[in-house]
Amino acid sequence: MSDQIATAWNRLKALPQRSLQELFAADGARVAALSGRIEWPGEGGETGILFDWSKTHLDNELLAAFEDLAQACDFAGHRAKLLGGEIVNVTEGRAATHPAMRGVGDAADVEEGEALLARMGMLVEAIHGGEFGEINHLIHIGIGGSALGPALAVDALTRDLALVDVHVVSNIDGVALEEAFAACNPATTMIAVASKTFTTIETMTNAASALKWLAENGVSDPSGRVVALTASPEKAVEWGVDETRVLPFPESVGGRYSLWSSIGFPVALAVGMEDFVAMLAGARAVDEHFRDNDGAANLCLRAALADQYYARLRGCQTRACFAYDERLGLLPDYLQQLEMESNGKRVKADGSPVAGPTAPITWGGVGTDAQHAVFQLLHQGTHLVPVDFIASIAPGDGLDPAHHAILLTNCFAQGAALMAGGNMAKDGKDPARAFPGDRPSATMLCDDLDAATLGALIAFHEHRTFANAVLMQINPFDQFGVELGKKMAKDIEAGGGDFDPSTQGLLARAGLA
Ligand code: F6P
Repeated sequence: MSDQIATAWNRLKALPQRSLQELFAADGARVAALSGRIEWPGEGGETGILFDWSKTHLDNELLAAFEDLAQACDFAGHRAKLLGGEIVNVTEGRAATHPAMRGVGDAADVEEGEALLARMGMLVEAIHGGEFGEINHLIHIGIGGSALGPALAVDALTRDLALVDVHVVSNIDGVALEEAFAACNPATTMIAVASKTFTTIETMTNAASALKWLAENGVSDPSGRVVALTASPEKAVEWGVDETRVLPFPESVGGRYSLWSSIGFPVALAVGMEDFVAMLAGARAVDEHFRDNDGAANLCLRAALADQYYARLRGCQTRACFAYDERLGLLPDYLQQLEMESNGKRVKADGSPVAGPTAPITWGGVGTDAQHAVFQLLHQGTHLVPVDFIASIAPGDGLDPAHHAILLTNCFAQGAALMAGGNMAKDGKDPARAFPGDRPSATMLCDDLDAATLGALIAFHEHRTFANAVLMQINPFDQFGVELGKKMAKDIEAGGGDFDPSTQGLLARAGLA
């Protein structure tokens, strides 16, 4: 197998590098060939997302060679294992059943996901129905995968209206929790403690402080206001949460893939079960696309092929994502964890070293703000940065349509400018005003940004991350890289550890030694 992989890479490396201008000139049907849509039923017919990779350097020859690579890496076999509920997280001996939480996977896993969703739905309806008294606020306490998905989805989907006002608190820095306290009335606030392990120090410390805040502010039974979202239900009960308010999820759902499980509770509480289920349905449409399409026709794989091209054949160390949509302001943060915690590895699943660079560093922001901040580097800097643009045809605002028209025009203009280049000087000769061009971008153009589309966008990136991992033979489902720092922090707290002079000096200076 590895000989076949090496042969596929050698073939890829031997292919000529053509500029974007040359590629467009050579193929009049390029836009159609490099674009695709993923659709699902919407209110007025099919709705979905258009993906356009024509402004990347992918062409038919590259795609064919990359398809050989995908075959050599047994992409179809790995995908079947993932969706069949088999062990794909080999270092921890676990399956990765997040697609089953939205209805695609092994029948028993799907059934379990449905039962857990129904349980969550009952609690959400009970809270909306007033069974816990008047509840206007939820402080959702979690970190990493237990916070980033809920924060993104709540922020994206509640710009018009939130049924319950949700505050996601992750940082152990008390400033974050105090900010949430200041925004909430303790008499009408519930607390969600979200932790897969129910041991994470930041979450457990923040949760204890939140209970103390309720008690100090006249709530007679603070623990009666707590909901636990966890894969360790026994630990939540031990901590004092009543079993009826523990919403479990399977161990096989990874933290950064857990938005679809009970970790999505704050989203359901804020937008209602109907929209939460719509988010799952949008994700499911992508799961089905991912399951049913092979080669470059599989758009999640195609995105990964572009990622591999830029990381491994063009030496790009970063990839940027700019959402031309204020509602997706937290998407880059979400994608950073998804991609960098999944594929930021230096060994393959079998323990041998990875041959080349792995996860690109994911970064980004929102347009048009980012244009006035970081786009200078994209257009004229020395780094080649592949860019993803994400936008919605339907506006999120109700103001003069000029707002949205200017937003979209800028989005498309940036992609065009990155590719075309030119010189802004009157005589066309000033090097400071020269744009080299030939800089790649892909565009994801959503018909609308509703709950289903958000689900689809996130699931697309999950499968893109998985496809990248397969192409690099990495296990994307563990994250041992976060452990050493955690252990050292514990050692310091326990007064132990053998630390270097710099760290000892810092601890002494801060009064912690
Ligand atoms: O430290 C990394 C990590 O394990 C993430 O993968 C995870 O999402 C986060 O911590 C939170 O973990 P938990 O949900 O168990 O509190």
